Amino acid sequence: MSTAIYPGSFDPITNGHVGIIRGGLVVFEKVVIAVLGNPRKDTLFSVEERIDMIRDSIDMSDGRVEVDSFDGLLVDYCRQKGARVVLRGLRAVADFEYELQMANMNRHLHPGVETVFIMANDAYFYVSSNLVKEAAKLGGEVSKLVPASVAPRLYAKLGR
Ligand code: PNS
Repeated sequence: MSTAIYPGSFDPITNGHVGIIRGGLVVFEKVVIAVLGNPRKDTLFSVEERIDMIRDSIDMSDGRVEVDSFDGLLVDYCRQKGARVVLRGLRAVADFEYELQMANMNRHLHPGVETVFIMANDAYFYVSSNLVKEAAKLGGEVSKLVPASVAPRLYAKLGR
């Protein structure tokens, strides 16, 4: 079975992420959404909250999507899951350099793992978790940019 690991902070999941997951399911039989447990930066939501929001946003009924968390090196997690593909989304050119560095670092650490990119849906190319959080914090309306269950949790977390 072809399995891709889709890693990220998902703090919180956005409609951009949902589009990448849908795209991943066109190409791969299974997509494992791997939520980073110990990010460099502080997250607004706990790992459990981020996983809950993902589960509420994705149709998991056919068993082709799994949601999990990981700590440590992504390539070690790939080994543990027996997966050879990392799935990532690409938005604007600005993503490219960071993604190129990560893909090559991962290839250096484990040559058996390849990164495959899916282009972001142009409706959401400008959407990132960080911008959504910033806009929401400052009173902006972001409910069209995130799955339905995310906006209320975001506003509640920010005391709105
Ligand atoms: O959604 P993000 O924050 O852009 O995702 C970044 C992520 C989680 C994919 C990246 O930080 C990662 O893979 N972290 C795990 C640590 C690791 O393996 N680092 C070496 C590869 S660069």
